[in-house]
Amino acid sequence: MTELLSEIHKRLTFAIISHPDAGKTTITEKLLLFGGAIHIAGAVKSGKTSRAAISDFMKMEQERGISISTSVMGFEYKGRKVNLLDTPGHADFSEDTYRGLSAVDSALMVIDSVKGVEERTRQLCVVCRMRATPIMTFINKLDREGKDPMELLDEVEKELAVQVRPITWPIGQGKLFKGVYNLLDHTLYLFRPGEDQLPVDTVSISSLSDPLLDEKVGASLARKLRDDVEMISGVYPSFDRDEYIRGEATPVFFGSALNNFGVRELLDHLTTLAPYPTPKEAEERLVAPEESKFSGFVFKIHANMNPRHRDRIAFLRVVSGKFERNTMYYHVRSGKSFRTANPTAFMSQDREIIDEAWPGDIIGLHDTGTFKIGDTLTEGESVSFKGIPSFAPQIFRSIRNADPLKEKQYHKGLDQLAEEGVVQIFSKIHQPNARVLGVVGQLQLEVLKSRLINEYAADCAYEPIDMTIAHWITSDDPKILKTFVDANTRHVLVDIRGNFVYVSDSEWAVNRVRQNNPAIRFYATSEMIDKRA
Ligand code: G4P
Repeated sequence: MTELLSEIHKRLTFAIISHPDAGKTTITEKLLLFGGAIHIAGAVKSGKTSRAAISDFMKMEQERGISISTSVMGFEYKGRKVNLLDTPGHADFSEDTYRGLSAVDSALMVIDSVKGVEERTRQLCVVCRMRATPIMTFINKLDREGKDPMELLDEVEKELAVQVRPITWPIGQGKLFKGVYNLLDHTLYLFRPGEDQLPVDTVSISSLSDPLLDEKVGASLARKLRDDVEMISGVYPSFDRDEYIRGEATPVFFGSALNNFGVRELLDHLTTLAPYPTPKEAEERLVAPEESKFSGFVFKIHANMNPRHRDRIAFLRVVSGKFERNTMYYHVRSGKSFRTANPTAFMSQDREIIDEAWPGDIIGLHDTGTFKIGDTLTEGESVSFKGIPSFAPQIFRSIRNADPLKEKQYHKGLDQLAEEGVVQIFSKIHQPNARVLGVVGQLQLEVLKSRLINEYAADCAYEPIDMTIAHWITSDDPKILKTFVDANTRHVLVDIRGNFVYVSDSEWAVNRVRQNNPAIRFYATSEMIDKRA
């Protein structure tokens, strides 16, 4: 095998998707412990706690190191180099979260067994489905009295439109939680309440009729497990890795992250089942990781909050070939080549300068304003990777300059921060100077204001506006599109790339407009119509 191929086969790049409080931080911490990347439980947690409040978030941004190193965490496990991307789920939820998913090859979905499928998970799952990203599911908090496991699986199938394939099955729940049964290898994993389960007690049973089962979990739970397994084997086809890789079916595991129960088994399955770095679609062609020439794309830009230093870090996902330090690479959008001097890798809490990187890796490039989100670097070929779209904002505000003496700084800051992806800016059709902001998370508004003040010495004020739903619109017939836009000027905005966006305050109203205008197509992201300016 060539060096490139063997490096590709080592890589595993994934993100955790979940609703706040489902247990993402707890699981991340356990994964890092198993990977030897951290040694003290609580290291991740303390980072998260300080992130909860806005003022702390800002402080953390200023300190830089923390948030950068927690955006990507790398560790080694059983011969695989695992890259785990952070997808903020708390107050700092923003478009960054969605974009992060474009840089991974699979996702781990964490669901709270008490609450079931929740809103944020639903939103992130839509993005995974768009790209057919394979999803592995962990149903957490089995030590609490939660929903019935069958009901939870039904919810996942119905609400997330992905088929489920249970790999483990819980024995009891809450106070009666005794462990899980692995349906594939007939092993019992026994749970001891209130303990960090390292190692977990495992017992192999010859079949479900083995009396050892009754001995270990009690006759009543053993009977229930037998009934459950009979039922689920009738309802769900057996697990097929190809279905998972195609994003059609999700293998499901049950456990309790807090008690460290089921997490190691999850990681074992993740490292054997999850896909290697996958080919990525560019406008021009599909780019495979095995191609000898390097290519990659920028999916996140992290700006320095220190106003004296305008440098930023661009996060680049390596798609193909080998990336080497101090090499000239071609920046497709500008048509210029430049040298990558000090690329960094993100291993656990540290940043380190690297000499090379391989497909699946995420590297940080020092940036003095060259990069925009979505930019591609290659060895000379003009390809532009797809999949870094803008997502339909859910919160809108009209914005105005709050300090008349700083008009120029205000516009400059607003434009630059929109390019960086901090917020989306739209203009109104007949009032091109009136700006409307769109964000997916409230915190983006706070960040924008604070950065205008700190970095541009400008200020802004927001006013509420009557919009909650946005769709990018297009039509095969430009005349029909123009007629529609002219007839709906109050509801149509223009994004920074010149695309039209239809906005409304009710799903019902949008549906009616869609029905009445079948020649107009409505999209939840800009992906389908981006002109890639
Ligand atoms: P998040 O990152 O998805 O928001 O979730 P996080 O890991 O912070 O977990 C949210 C809460 O759920 C935490 O409690 C955590 O201890 C708890 N938790 C996580 N896994 C389990 C589990 O398997 N069983 C039970 N019973 N609880 C679990 P908290 O009280 O909010 O925080 P803390 O005081 O424990 O730090």
